[in-house]
Amino acid sequence: MSPRSDPEFFDAKYRADPDPWNFDTDWYEIRKRTLLLAMLPHPRFRSALEPGCANGHITTELARRCDRVTATDIAPRAVELTGIRCRDQPNVEIREWGLGRMWHWENIFDLVLLSEVVYYLPADALTLAIEDMASHLRPRTTVVLSHWRHTEKDHHLDGDEATGIALAAFPHRCVARYLDADVRIEVVTTNP
Ligand SMILES: C[S@@+](CC[C@H](N)C(=O)[O-])C[C@H]1O[C@@H](n2cnc3c(N)ncnc32)[C@H](O)[C@@H]1O
Repeated sequence: MSPRSDPEFFDAKYRADPDPWNFDTDWYEIRKRTLLLAMLPHPRFRSALEPGCANGHITTELARRCDRVTATDIAPRAVELTGIRCRDQPNVEIREWGLGRMWHWENIFDLVLLSEVVYYLPADALTLAIEDMASHLRPRTTVVLSHWRHTEKDHHLDGDEATGIALAAFPHRCVARYLDADVRIEVVTTNP
């Protein structure tokens, strides 16, 4: 297995198994979701962007804390599965879109959640994607980075490398940080 960024790879995973990372039952996944949601600095947000929404576990939780959630994935089947999970949450919009593609939104988000997604981009592409993202965000937007710290064959970078590259790509202020052997979560705000 080599590092992957192509939608076909991820789509095939969801077509073979609707829960390919065991989000339903794996304690790492359940614990990570709980941690990152608890670390959000405000009880409510106006508008969240969640690239890499997978099958919508985090999306459905965000929708309870945000007036509006834009959830995206590069895998068409993941988009469908998130739609099924969030079918009773009309404040969720789901789109087939990938971090690193042309940005479609201007100054509308006050929360961006990047969870287990930035290490699917090679370093140069990741820097460009985050620079572009930051150029379209207002000052003091909350950005969350949450990543598995171990090396995986299909990742371009490990979690610490990817988090470091992403944070170096935009001016920010640290709000909260969590680190253990498995996961690193950084909550920052964009600077003026
Ligand atoms: C390991 S899952 C993470 C799911 C969820 N965000 C979480 O933290 O539990 C990675 C997801 O990111 C998607 N993905 C990969 N590269 C992406 C990109 N450049 N933009 C958006 N989604 C991407 C994959 O299709 C997959 O659904």
